[in-house]
Amino acid sequence: MYENINNWLKEAEAFFTDDADVLESFKIKYLSKKGILNQLFEEFKNVPAEQKKDFGLKVNMLKKVVSEKIAQLKSEIEKVSSKESKEELDLTLPVGFTELGTRHPISIVRNHIIEIFSRIGFTVSDGPEIEDDWHNFTALNFPYEHPARDMQDTFFIEQNPDIALRTHTSSVQVRVMENTKPPIRTISPGRVFRNEAISARAHCIFHQIEGLYVDKDVSFADLKQTLLYFAKEMFGEDTKIRLRPSFFPFTEPSAEMDISCNLCKGKGCNICKYTGWVEILGCGMVDPNVLENCGIDSKIYSGYAFGMGIERMTMLKYQIKDLRLFFENDMNFLKQFESSI
Ligand code: PHE
Repeated sequence: MYENINNWLKEAEAFFTDDADVLESFKIKYLSKKGILNQLFEEFKNVPAEQKKDFGLKVNMLKKVVSEKIAQLKSEIEKVSSKESKEELDLTLPVGFTELGTRHPISIVRNHIIEIFSRIGFTVSDGPEIEDDWHNFTALNFPYEHPARDMQDTFFIEQNPDIALRTHTSSVQVRVMENTKPPIRTISPGRVFRNEAISARAHCIFHQIEGLYVDKDVSFADLKQTLLYFAKEMFGEDTKIRLRPSFFPFTEPSAEMDISCNLCKGKGCNICKYTGWVEILGCGMVDPNVLENCGIDSKIYSGYAFGMGIERMTMLKYQIKDLRLFFENDMNFLKQFESSI
């Protein structure tokens, strides 16, 4: 014990902490009932007479050093914590400057499209981005070996059974039809994925909005009229539409819709490649097989569906030439949309 006093003295002199708990254990170590100092006082009677004086001096010195250290550190810790709590309560300090963000152009256009369709009674539906084969392909009339599956290069997560990142929002159609009784009138915005080389016109991630209307006596005329209304609301009152026959496994008949070029007003420019028309979406009457796959009686009900790319809409609306800009988080690009809601 006696030999240890010098070490304890050194330790106590060098001790520092700004943590109240650490200080408390230091105090316990030296000053508690079973602490070092009490043990030293106990030891006093066993110390040989000629060493008693020196021992007593050292024990007293240790007690002094320890007590002063505790008092000093305690007051420093209290000072800091009272300063901190005062700072927390100082309501007169100026607030920190937070820069206001802006909405991403894709969100602006998505919200605009949702708003246009909600005015005519469409609800919004959501579905998972990781899909099984049934919802992304099979229920949508893509037979297993059908070449149509090759149209969409897919990111598979697992194979046999196939789980993939959805290649289109048409998978949400299936989920809605499986779970809802007609009449159904819904749009499904969402992110989709295709294994494509990234360029100014294509990306492996992009966004679509799907539309689905299923009821008794839904006809191609309803589809055409709804899309004409949408095109006018989105691109201006004098916008014209044109439907060209096309193919999708899940719609029959199918069509591709163009709008009259709102930039050159049909005169011809590089956006419409001098044709006066720009392709904006795919559409058609829901194939009866698809209705049946989803448990809807195709003898009673019919429906139309359409799907459009939000990036494409945004590029047309804001005359953006490179699709990659949407994913690069370049503030100079994004800030340009500050004034749009
Ligand atoms: N799912 C199609 C695509 O991604 C678009 C589409 C949707 C076509 C609905 C017709 C009907 O290309």
